[in-house]
Amino acid sequence: MTYNEIRKLFLDYFEQHGHKIVPSASLIPNDPTLLFTVAGMVPWKGILQGAEPAFAPRVADVQKCIRAGGKHNDLEDVGFDGRHHTFFEMMGNWSFGDYFKEGAIEMSWELLTKVFGLDPNRIVVTTHVSDDEATAIWKKITGKDAIRLDKDNWWSAGDTGPCGPCTEMHYDFGPNIPGGLPGSKDEDGGRFVEIWNDVFMQYDRDANGVLTPLPKQNVDTGAGLERFASIMQNKLDNYDTDLFVNLKTAVSDLTGVKETAENKSSFKVITDHLRAVGFAIADGVIPSNADRGYVIRRILRRAMRHGQMLGHRGALLSALYPALVREMGDAYPELKTQEAHVVEIIKNEENSFADMLQNGMKLLETELPKVNNNVLPGDVAFKLFDTYGFPLDLTQMILRDKNIAVDVEAFEKCMKEQKERSRADTRGTKLLWESQTDLPNTNDSEKYETKTDKAAKVLAVLRGEEFVKTANAGDEVEIALDHTPFYGTQGGQVGDSGVFKIGDTVVMNVSETNRVGNVVIHKGTLSATINVGDEVMPEINQNIRQQTARAHTATHLLQAALRHVLNEDVEQRGSKVAPDSVRFDFSFGRAMTAEEKQAVEDLVNQWINADLPVSHEEMDIESAKARGAMALFGEKYGDRVRVITAGDVSCELCGGTHIYHTGEIIKARINKEKSISSGIRRITMSVGTLAE
Ligand code: ALA
Repeated sequence: MTYNEIRKLFLDYFEQHGHKIVPSASLIPNDPTLLFTVAGMVPWKGILQGAEPAFAPRVADVQKCIRAGGKHNDLEDVGFDGRHHTFFEMMGNWSFGDYFKEGAIEMSWELLTKVFGLDPNRIVVTTHVSDDEATAIWKKITGKDAIRLDKDNWWSAGDTGPCGPCTEMHYDFGPNIPGGLPGSKDEDGGRFVEIWNDVFMQYDRDANGVLTPLPKQNVDTGAGLERFASIMQNKLDNYDTDLFVNLKTAVSDLTGVKETAENKSSFKVITDHLRAVGFAIADGVIPSNADRGYVIRRILRRAMRHGQMLGHRGALLSALYPALVREMGDAYPELKTQEAHVVEIIKNEENSFADMLQNGMKLLETELPKVNNNVLPGDVAFKLFDTYGFPLDLTQMILRDKNIAVDVEAFEKCMKEQKERSRADTRGTKLLWESQTDLPNTNDSEKYETKTDKAAKVLAVLRGEEFVKTANAGDEVEIALDHTPFYGTQGGQVGDSGVFKIGDTVVMNVSETNRVGNVVIHKGTLSATINVGDEVMPEINQNIRQQTARAHTATHLLQAALRHVLNEDVEQRGSKVAPDSVRFDFSFGRAMTAEEKQAVEDLVNQWINADLPVSHEEMDIESAKARGAMALFGEKYGDRVRVITAGDVSCELCGGTHIYHTGEIIKARINKEKSISSGIRRITMSVGTLAE
């Protein structure tokens, strides 16, 4: 029985039993606690928690899943046995407050033994130690005594959220296969394979681990299709089932290498990784240096390494993708509709990594003979990462065969030092300011108020490369004050300009403001003598401030509109907010069409015309998260954060300055959209009078 036949039988059975059949949801979950959809229940989390209404009491589907990062991570195990995958399909049925334990167990049993025709004697069941009810139901329906387990029979998708006891069905491949019963110490032997898990979602777990009963008792089940196929096709190895045999043939055809006992694991890794990378990119993930994009980049690079081990050079996954479309494109039409896009993205990645992989391997070969005590020094692993793009786990994977570990601590130290160096390169006079270790932090709490009525004290004056006590009219200087309403350039937003006055006299024209640590540096030209210790009135240019603030709020609307028009996976990768102008970099794998650009611009203008209120609130990070505020990936936030909300269209953590009504933006106009690197696009946009 093939994959296509199994999917159909499963769904037909549940349709006949009153379930609504739905297509698989995206691999990109609508859930900030997860990198990928890791189980069939992920799209239904809100329903299971009682936060969203159920659209049907009974639902069934076959869901695309990836477990490669976070709580559920099988990446390291792929290739070493016949059961692990990063990408897999999970067949499942759900009851949202409809049937519970008895109904679920009855249907699972009937489907396995009557529809799929499995021998009842070959099925072993387990239940949770606390679950007398499920145990009694099994006894009643099948006469079987369930094996009662603790941790293995409790299921949750993440550290928080819906969870509950579960009951698992395992298939017995027979006494000729080594391996013990579920829960025994040799359970991994391979004789007993878990085929189906029925979870009784009874509780919601909060961040402190406290369980609260859910408003409704729900059922969440999951049956891995690859294992199901291995049983139906009587194969001990999932990778010997029809779908994988066909993919492996494509690998052989491409590389000219036949599968042997020695290279078997490379065939597994390549076919597994082809599915993970292909499906993820088809769903909108772009390989990158952060987040799920980095998981996909790492998986792709691991696959290339295995291609190289087979002696293959050049395109690998991009060349194999059509085989994936052939095998799975009927069940998942997005593989076909996204084909050109996916192949292009993979090709770009492969091209940029191909030479690096070869050169990095050369470096590694020259370093290996020097290795002591089977530990590769951290600086070598760092060089592989920094110069040759080897993710740490790729280096570890390569060395695993040779029984060599990496000095991870030293590797991380090198990473940290490099970050500091690169910061120093862009510093200019910052190094000089940093040497002023006695200088107190600037109190810039007035920056959101835009003005102060208190004179500020001059604490330090830098002229050229020298700190001076006095500077004169005409001097170019940088000045630190004890407090200031000026916003120092930060978070992509340029700083303020303005003047310092003594009485009614302007003593300095401030052209820009920067930050060094927590000190705000005012840069400009003096029009009178100034001494350390003088008191000046700092006044920002309110016009320019308004132009910058409206550009910043417009940037938030732009991001919201991009996510709306393109997809939810669009993420900010950088930005520059200046008076009436916005530069916004974001993850997206192709050029936007003229229609998409127009739709984004129209949406932003629609929100501007609606004159939505913009609120600026300070709160603790937990409350901000609970509110769903969007955060920048990789950004460190303190305990107290500012949350900027525009109507109900945008909610972001942001330390920048903003307007109070979207109408203040007046108008927005997209000027350009272009690529700046693989998978990253840049939009430039004008707002305000400039756009008009
Ligand atoms: N959500 C359950 C699992 O993934 C069914 O095993």
